[in-house]
Amino acid sequence: MRAAALELKGVPVALRGLAKRFGTVDALTPVDLDIEAGELVAFLGPSGCGKTTTLLLIAGIYRPTAGQIYFDETQVDHLHPRDRDVGMVFQSYALYPHFTLFDNIAFPLTIQRTARNVARERVTRVAEMLGIGEILERRPSQVSGGQQQRAALARALVKQPRILLLDEPLSNLDAQIRLQARGEIRRLQRQMGITSILVTHDQAEALAMADRVAVFCQGRLEQFATPHDLYHAPANTFVAGFVGHPPMNLVEGRIENGRFRGAAGLELEVDVEGDGPATLGLRPEDIRLDAGGVHAGEVAIAEALGRETLLTVELGSGLQLPGLQLKVLVAETEAVPPGTAVSLDLAGAARHLFDGEGRRIP
Ligand SMILES: Nc1ncnc2c1ncn2[C@@H]1O[C@H](COP(=O)(O)OP(=O)(O)OP(=O)(O)O)[C@@H](O)[C@H]1O
Ligand SMILES: [Mg+2]
Repeated sequence: MRAAALELKGVPVALRGLAKRFGTVDALTPVDLDIEAGELVAFLGPSGCGKTTTLLLIAGIYRPTAGQIYFDETQVDHLHPRDRDVGMVFQSYALYPHFTLFDNIAFPLTIQRTARNVARERVTRVAEMLGIGEILERRPSQVSGGQQQRAALARALVKQPRILLLDEPLSNLDAQIRLQARGEIRRLQRQMGITSILVTHDQAEALAMADRVAVFCQGRLEQFATPHDLYHAPANTFVAGFVGHPPMNLVEGRIENGRFRGAAGLELEVDVEGDGPATLGLRPEDIRLDAGGVHAGEVAIAEALGRETLLTVELGSGLQLPGLQLKVLVAETEAVPPGTAVSLDLAGAARHLFDGEGRRIP
């Protein structure tokens, strides 16, 4: 690999009070975010939460309603997209069908009137790095979806941008190519040290690829943290329920005198002062089956997932109490069929606690 010859160098990106309103819709409420030089950050969240809007604000395609954007401490919000030195891959690759891959990739350089020999060398080098050097004379219809995706990425990289913006770049690929493409993009991005933002609604993709993940919900930034911290210390019940697969169990209840009390008589000691409404989060993979424990119930559903089985356990059935269903992930060898009486061992499970407003209790 001769990546060093491309001499890309990422810059830090800062968003300050950045907001965007379309008519009466707050697509993005004021957000502050600091992305480090060379970092890969994922924007993660459900459909319509403002991911693409934020990306297009950074690219300069949208103008902010409020706030500022800085690249390397220089304010850029008044700059035209082409003067921002940003490479972007859209969800639909938008390759020109009648152009060869070569001409597609070279297009940004043609617009910039880069000398032909320089353009040829750069296109060839980027294409070789992406493993499409041999098929540059073909048109998009004559190559696979994965190769088209790489051509779109090459087109974004050939300008040697300071920042790379990727909007769901893998969503058109089948699962296997997707896994491979994830690894390739990550390797390339590291090699080039280019500051990158990847938009995705796929948490597995975000957690696998990003240094840090910004989780959005309804135009709000809910948390900006490493994959490790998102999983182990979700900032609120939205992140707790959104990140992690299968999702975390969230049990509503109250904290009283250092004990959490939820439905179905579920009661646990917690290390929290003060009383009030609370939500307890327990990850399905943290709960064990236990012979003759205190949290007795019955298996309602058993879903085979291959190496593991996801059990839905109904607690408190038979008691004169509202029931409670907990998801429990067990090894395939420990799986039991629906109808089996079980009890749950919660002793080793991390207890995520959230206050009445859904915010994590430290
Ligand atoms: N040009 C526009 N005009 C009016 N409303 C818009 C426009 N673009 C986006 N919106 C609205 O702003 C909100 C955020 O949209 P955005 O495209 O940023 O979502 P997203 O997180 O990228 O979702 P998806 O995962 O579906 O792509 C949505 O409610 C959307 O309907
Ligand atoms: Mg989008």
